[in-house]
Amino acid sequence: MNIKCNINGKSVSFEAEPLDRLLDILRDTLGLTGTKEGCGEGECGACTVFMNNKLVNSCLVPAMHLQDADIVTIDGLRDFDFFTSITQSYEENGAVQCGFCTPGFIMSTIELLRKSNGKVLTDDEVKSVFAGNICRCTGYDKIIKAVRQLLHTNIEIPKRFYE
Ligand code: FES
Ligand code: FES
Repeated sequence: MNIKCNINGKSVSFEAEPLDRLLDILRDTLGLTGTKEGCGEGECGACTVFMNNKLVNSCLVPAMHLQDADIVTIDGLRDFDFFTSITQSYEENGAVQCGFCTPGFIMSTIELLRKSNGKVLTDDEVKSVFAGNICRCTGYDKIIKAVRQLLHTNIEIPKRFYE
């Protein structure tokens, strides 16, 4: 089937089988390798992307659901100031070790910053957004510290991520 959708602000069109995974389409068909595969079963969050402005595990999204969808992956964030602020905070707090989970955590961090809307969230509220992300290296404390730092600075997430 031919699929047309919007990925990282660009209109794209490609051929796929109905059950092909969004994760494979991103990485193998479109060369967007920032999104990682961990478990391949919807458990680890390494493959997290935004689809129609909601976080999804791209390993669980079949191609047949992609027609006209709006997808944002980590590869589409590089030019945004807020992305630099997030990566700096992760670096400063030692929240990246092997880095394999980091793209998924960054997508969830964006969700968290959208949710907080300027308010400082409790640790439990922070943890609930990260419930779908597994990190095998950091023990989570450093990631939460990085996010806490971000919640104390006024980071603006562009309107495009709310529509
Ligand atoms: S690779 Fe998709 S959730 Fe683990
Ligand atoms: S930094 Fe290695 S899995 Fe999270």
